[in-house]
Amino acid sequence: MIYDLGAADHLRQLLSVFPRAPVAHLPTPLDDCPRLSEVLAGPRIWIKRDDMTGLALGGNKARQFVFSLGPAISQGCDYLVHGADSQSNHSCQTAAAAAKLGMKALLVIPRDPKSYPVNGNLLLDHLLGAQVKYVFSAIATEEKKNAMARLREQGHKPYDTSVDGAALRAVAYAEGALELCEQAEKRGVEPTAVYVSSSTHTLAGLVVGLRAIGSSTRAFGMGYRVEDEEQMRRRLAAAATECASVIGLDLVFAPEDFEVNCQFARPGFGELSRTSLETMKRVAETEGILLDPVYTAKAMDGLIGHIREGRYGRDESVVFLHTGGLPTLFAYGDELFG
Ligand SMILES: Cc1ncc(COP(=O)(O)O)c(C=O)c1O
Repeated sequence: MIYDLGAADHLRQLLSVFPRAPVAHLPTPLDDCPRLSEVLAGPRIWIKRDDMTGLALGGNKARQFVFSLGPAISQGCDYLVHGADSQSNHSCQTAAAAAKLGMKALLVIPRDPKSYPVNGNLLLDHLLGAQVKYVFSAIATEEKKNAMARLREQGHKPYDTSVDGAALRAVAYAEGALELCEQAEKRGVEPTAVYVSSSTHTLAGLVVGLRAIGSSTRAFGMGYRVEDEEQMRRRLAAAATECASVIGLDLVFAPEDFEVNCQFARPGFGELSRTSLETMKRVAETEGILLDPVYTAKAMDGLIGHIREGRYGRDESVVFLHTGGLPTLFAYGDELFG
């Protein structure tokens, strides 16, 4: 038994009352990866395919949006707004969710080195019909605030997909933990650990879900940008405690409840690591599964690093939670193979 069935039922019941936005294909598959396990001479590796959530090219945002956009629908919002880098997965998923829900999307995007030529997520943003407002990076936050205010003046009801309903993005991954444990149990697998590229919502929600159902699986959050790990743990503890409270669970989290690692990250956001390409090729060539260069390749670097340190025996199972991000692959062709 890898979790408590009664506690799982209780969590399922608590989650059933949340309004949902029908934007993701769930549950996502849990793939056995025997060839990758073999070349690494390590534990049995399973990949939880949240890159297959089905909204445009998928990813963790689609699962998060199922919960976090619930209030946007019930409040009658007509615009989804997001502001981030030109290759933001979050922006692209905002555009796709707006299309699927019959809303409009406004994306506030700084001109940055990846905004030309138009490729990757930015290409999809346009294709998905989002209104793209290009701005100077120095005033991007102010521009987004002004854009939201203008929409309100025009009688619209905008919803900012990073700020509004933010705690619900973690709630979605508490449900993701439940989904993963149910699938693992059906397959007779008892994962020792789950690895994920996350610095906030995904990991916080996973840890809440695992604790709520009494699972012994440890979650490892792999940072994608170098940051102070203690600060990251404090942020995660606050996010997890808030998530538990929103769900109605009497759980409090401390920084020590989180395993994080920024050793495989790079100082700049979107910067490739030395081993990213090798890792991406290894997973693609052994399992036919694509990783992205910004997030998931670094998290997989971390898992491989831990396997090489001998942390896991061959009879153990480890899950890699694939959070998506695949559109950026097409904006990194030159760095990867040029
Ligand atoms: C592909 C991908 N993986 C992981 C993350 C990290 O998500 P979070 O830190 O919110 O858990 C993101 C966030 O944008 C992402 O796009």
